[in-house]
Amino acid sequence: MAALRVVRSVTALRRALEDERLSGQRIGFVPTMGALHAGHASLVQHATQVSDVVVSSIFVNPLQFGPKEDLAHYPRTPEADMALLEAAGCRVLFLPEVSEVYPQGFCTTVQLPGLSEVLCGRSRPGHFSGVLTVVLKLLNMVQPDVACFGRKDFQQALLIARMVRDFNLPVQVEVCPTLREADGLAMSSRNRYLSAEERVAAPALRAAVLAMDAAFRAGERAAAPLLALGRARIATVPRFALDYLELRDPQDLSERDGAVKQGDLVAVAAQLGSARLIDNGLLGTEEAP
Ligand code: PAJ
Repeated sequence: MAALRVVRSVTALRRALEDERLSGQRIGFVPTMGALHAGHASLVQHATQVSDVVVSSIFVNPLQFGPKEDLAHYPRTPEADMALLEAAGCRVLFLPEVSEVYPQGFCTTVQLPGLSEVLCGRSRPGHFSGVLTVVLKLLNMVQPDVACFGRKDFQQALLIARMVRDFNLPVQVEVCPTLREADGLAMSSRNRYLSAEERVAAPALRAAVLAMDAAFRAGERAAAPLLALGRARIATVPRFALDYLELRDPQDLSERDGAVKQGDLVAVAAQLGSARLIDNGLLGTEEAP
C-alpha cells in the first residue's frame, strides 16, 4: 500500500501530481467533506479501478451550508479519514483551509437554475450553487481525468454532470452505487447525529422507497397511490419530519404526477432529530436497489 501524501495548498497539489501527469498517468478524484465512511471508501476504490493515481479532498465547504445548517458542528475526524483513504488506495489528500479555497475577494459562483431549485434545492436555497462552485474549483485545482460521486446524492451528481457538460470541463464523471448499513440505512456522515433510538427508526426512509418499488413491480403505475404508500411508511415513525417524497424524471427532474415508468426517480428527504437524511431509488431497476 503506497503512503498517503497530504497537501494543503494548490501549489503543493499541482507539484505532487506533476510527474504523474507528465508521464501520462490517469488522475482520479473523489471530493469529500470528511467524516469518512465505507461509502466514501467505495468511491476511492472505484477511482483506483478507473485511474492510475487517486486524489481525494476533504473540505467542509462553507458555501453549501445555509445559515441555520450544521457547518460549525459538521463532524471532523481527520486522523481516521486519512487511515481510511490510505487503505482504500488514495495517494494524495488535498486538505485546504477555507482561505486557500476562498481567498479574500472571492466572488464568482456557479448557478444552475431549474434543476437546483427542486427537491433538496427547494428547502436548501443556495446549497447547490455552493456545491457546484466548490466542485468546479476543486476540479480546476486537481485537473483529474475522472471524478467519482455517489448516487446517494442523486441530485448533486446530476447537477455536477450537467455543469461538466455545460462548461465543457475535460473530466469524466462517474456515479457510484449507494453503500448501506446492514439494515438498509444509506451511509452518511450525518448518521452520527442520530440518537440510539433515532438510529433504529432511520431505515424507514429506505423502507418507504422499497415499498414504492415493490408496488411498482407489482403493477402500480399511478404516482398518487405510490406516494401515499411511501408517506404512510414514513409516518410510522412520528419523529420523522418529512421534507419531501417525490417521483421525478431521473434526467431532467420534471415531476411525475400522473403515470410513472420504469427508471423513474423516487427521492426522499426528512429530518430525524438533528440529522437531515436523504435517500433515493430508481423504480423497477437494480438501483431501487
Ligand atoms: P460528502 O457528503 O462528504 O460526500 C462525498 C461523496 O461521497 C459524494 O459524492 C457523495 O455522494 C458520496 N457518498 C456519500 N454517502 C455515500 C454512500 N452511502 N455510498 C456511496 N457514496 C456516498 O457530497 C459532498 O460531500 C459534498 O457536497 C462535495 C461533493 C464534496 C462538495 O463539497
